[in-house]
Amino acid sequence: MTREKTEVLVIGSGISGCTSAITASASGKNVLLITKTSDPMESNTLYAQGGIVVIGENDTKELLYEDIMKAGDGISNPEAVKIVADEGPSLVLDFLIGDIGVSFSKNSDGSFHFTREAAHTRKRILHYYDMTGFEIEKKLLEKIKTIKNITFLNDFTAIDLITSHHHSKNPLLKYKNNLCLGCYALNNSTGGVYTMLADATIVATGGIGKLYQFTTNPDCATGDGISMAYRAGADVTNMEYVQFHPTMFYSEEESRFLISEALRGEGGRLLNKNGEVFMEKYSTRWKDLAPRDEVTRAIYNEMARTESSYVYLDIAHYKKKNLNIHNRFPGIYEECMKHKINIEKEPIPVVPAEHYFCGGVLIGDYGNTTLPGLYAVGESSCSGVHGANRLASVSLLEGLVYGERAGIRASKAPKHEEFFPDIADWIYPKNLNTTNNDPLLILQDWNNLKSTMWNYVGIIRTETRLLRAESDLGNLFARITDYYRNTNLTKAKIELRNGIMVANMIAQFARRNNKAIGCHYIKE
Ligand code: SIN
Repeated sequence: MTREKTEVLVIGSGISGCTSAITASASGKNVLLITKTSDPMESNTLYAQGGIVVIGENDTKELLYEDIMKAGDGISNPEAVKIVADEGPSLVLDFLIGDIGVSFSKNSDGSFHFTREAAHTRKRILHYYDMTGFEIEKKLLEKIKTIKNITFLNDFTAIDLITSHHHSKNPLLKYKNNLCLGCYALNNSTGGVYTMLADATIVATGGIGKLYQFTTNPDCATGDGISMAYRAGADVTNMEYVQFHPTMFYSEEESRFLISEALRGEGGRLLNKNGEVFMEKYSTRWKDLAPRDEVTRAIYNEMARTESSYVYLDIAHYKKKNLNIHNRFPGIYEECMKHKINIEKEPIPVVPAEHYFCGGVLIGDYGNTTLPGLYAVGESSCSGVHGANRLASVSLLEGLVYGERAGIRASKAPKHEEFFPDIADWIYPKNLNTTNNDPLLILQDWNNLKSTMWNYVGIIRTETRLLRAESDLGNLFARITDYYRNTNLTKAKIELRNGIMVANMIAQFARRNNKAIGCHYIKE
């Protein structure tokens, strides 16, 4: 049994988690940063291709604010959008470029190259070729290695948040406000559970892509932080708003990957199976650069109309003058080549896929949740910036802004040491059922979960589909919970338990909201 004590505990090592850790450490506090993956780089941040928003050409904070609000389809939180539009661009310049040393692509005269993505009225996106997330993540982790008061542990999976109501041996604490005091975490290699006690805990565990059959997210996106925070008693919100990216590479094999919206920003057009451009029909103003939810539904419609499993994205024949496709999009070029598609010569087969979660743990201006001692940042949180539909390249920006704000606030958190001695260590199950270790049980549960979410809680929802989803996911939830209780813990089982809990919440929120807004599209 191992007990660790720290001042600030950060769970998750993408842009928001790393920024929180670096910011909190600057106050001199001891920070413990954990990630469940073996490779510290693995996170949704790593796969972000498009870029990060700043103030571009002929641009202002006010215009950026307007664009984010419009994409959010009327339910973005104006205060949160103002925070991000005001603080984000200078944080990119001062913190990411200045302090961390992140590089962004430049023009031949040394100025930054700004690109454009859907629903932006200005060219204002900084990028590092088509590997922006990779560059940011690499530089943040390099910085963290140099900071003495940050301890970084990979291969540690958070299981549950520790709270004064749920885990203290002192029964009188039930009469006081509940308080988050850290988390229990599984050492993936040994199977031992650590009691990690902290004055402030920041959840930065990313999105939920693995809950859907088709997603641009890596396998680690299992909604862990949202599920843990909910179990601990924090409020979650906007859970019905799951954003689908219009263009993921289509292949009959498993290997599918994001085809950045920036290709359309550089001129690329969508074509249906018959080779016809079609976006004018759906959005006269924006055409191929319409907001994501609109493009996604247009593609869905064209696929159904032409009885095809995909549409095409053609940059080869529509690229802007002087664009060298291979130089601008080296990552996408190489990946497509592996599938024998030369994007300089031919169109790319694409389909929509789950991409980003606009809901999550409800947070205030400093990443503070409704559970004292607990903060949430990045994709696992909901500040309300994205409303019902996120504007392109604002996710890294929001992670950065709230990562910094939560890091500052957490470093000023009151001491909770007096509560630590009464916190119980993890109780391992007594009646282990070793037949539960069959990996096919987990695989099949995921298959059921993912196909139910894709077909019933996907791009186009109906009441009948959602009712079925609630019922099927409810049954699966009961079975997985029972299975989880009587088995030895593994990372895979923890993820499955979190995944099914979040899937249930998404289906329930979606069924209760019969108004189609942004990416929650429900047909009468
Ligand atoms: C993309 O490159 O299309 C994705 C960018 C984003 O999700 O903001």
